[in-house]
Amino acid sequence: VAQNEPHRPQFHFSPNKHWMNDPNGMVYYKGTYHLFFQHYPDGTTWGPMHWGHATSADLVHWTEQPIALYPDSLGYIFSGSVVVDKDNTSGLGKNGVSPLVAIFTHHNPDLEKQKSDKYQYQSLAYSLDEGKTWKKYENNPVLPNPGITDFRDPKVRWYEPQQKWIMSLATKDRITFYSSPNLKNWTKESEFGQDAGSHGGVWECPDLFPLTANGKTAWVLLVSINPGGPNEGSATQYFIGDFDGKTFKPYSKETKWIDYGTDNYAGVTIANTNERTLFLGWMSNWLYGEKVPTSPWRSAMTVPRELGLTQIKKDWFLTSVPVKELNVLKGESFSLKKENIKGGRPLTSKLKNETGLFKLDVSAQNTNDFSIVLANDRGNEVIIGYDKASNVYYIDRTHSGQTNFREGFGKRYTAPRLSADQIISLTVIVDVASVELFADNGLTVMTGIFFPEQPMSQLYIKSAKGIFIENLLYTKLKPSVKQ
Ligand code: FRU
Repeated sequence: VAQNEPHRPQFHFSPNKHWMNDPNGMVYYKGTYHLFFQHYPDGTTWGPMHWGHATSADLVHWTEQPIALYPDSLGYIFSGSVVVDKDNTSGLGKNGVSPLVAIFTHHNPDLEKQKSDKYQYQSLAYSLDEGKTWKKYENNPVLPNPGITDFRDPKVRWYEPQQKWIMSLATKDRITFYSSPNLKNWTKESEFGQDAGSHGGVWECPDLFPLTANGKTAWVLLVSINPGGPNEGSATQYFIGDFDGKTFKPYSKETKWIDYGTDNYAGVTIANTNERTLFLGWMSNWLYGEKVPTSPWRSAMTVPRELGLTQIKKDWFLTSVPVKELNVLKGESFSLKKENIKGGRPLTSKLKNETGLFKLDVSAQNTNDFSIVLANDRGNEVIIGYDKASNVYYIDRTHSGQTNFREGFGKRYTAPRLSADQIISLTVIVDVASVELFADNGLTVMTGIFFPEQPMSQLYIKSAKGIFIENLLYTKLKPSVKQ
């Protein structure tokens, strides 16, 4: 960790400099993962949006690339997606080269100032050199605004059974689905959500994709909302149901959360990854994203996660677990098996600047409250725990270091345990300024950022009344960023 950048994530993507929010246009193409992102290259707060760009061969080591899309006369470049148009349905390909096509929102600040309700509309850009350089389509926008103030964040995928593109678009308090044969002409198919889910804030950044479990395919709809998250501010809810090329029909209208933590927003899946479904989100929150004490950059992405589907009784849930690619970072490890722990037990003497992966299994029935504690000599601590009486997991950053850049940052945040398994099984990923908890094989997930006054250097497992550890494994994770 460089001294002047004490909170620089060591294996999470963060921009070298300046402001970042939503991941955009994530696509895997010819051996490269592309991550575009909402970016303001002239400051560390939100401003006229560009698409920043980073690439990776393995989802772990990222290289920042030149800015992909700049604002133009139609507006700022807001969130959107990229597709591989392999059959050149758009006609934007040339000489047998299939185009990568970006479908994004143009946000027009002049129209916004004039109090028009039509200042967001959808446009295209394309690349004929595998994502290196991008050209805007000359007849933008391709989907004009019908008079809806929030009309943005198109996520497009190919719908094979009907040979057409489907766009999921956030339209204020619902998602509107459009279809197109060529990415240029769009027809409205249906709407979803006015009477479903959480409506504590505006709906943003949708994503609709199929997942298969035990031979059954269901469609998942992700919808980010801001504010209205389960632990305040921005968060991402999901629905599971059927999709027939026209209409999304959820099995339940109730909200579920992909991540109960405060710091996973606007996440969507990576296009073109074949049988795997991979996801990552912006590891921050609109409540304080512009105020976090980092310089000269602001914010990072979560680790990439692999999504799955699981059933509990009759109800379907989404699971997310860290991608296996992170294994390349594994270093020394430390383990305990079949051991009683009462009070506090240090797990490693001095971790200094360490980042790692923690796995813990305890018997659900016999356990008492317990926690994993990250701490330093300044008395800063981040506590990741399980509270038996209320059957919740939590991340407590009350005494995590710098918290007063925003009132309410230093709090204890909870998430329900949804699993009824006999074993409580936790995977915890710790970077210098973030923790990601994946409980019960990714059924309950919590992501939280923190800013200690000096690096965390101690790791404990604690239980006042005592717990029996089935298995515990702490593995150091080496940095993936250049030191
Ligand atoms: C979500 C969001 C999107 C929008 C983008 C602007 O965080 O508000 O709806 O496209 O950020 O930067």
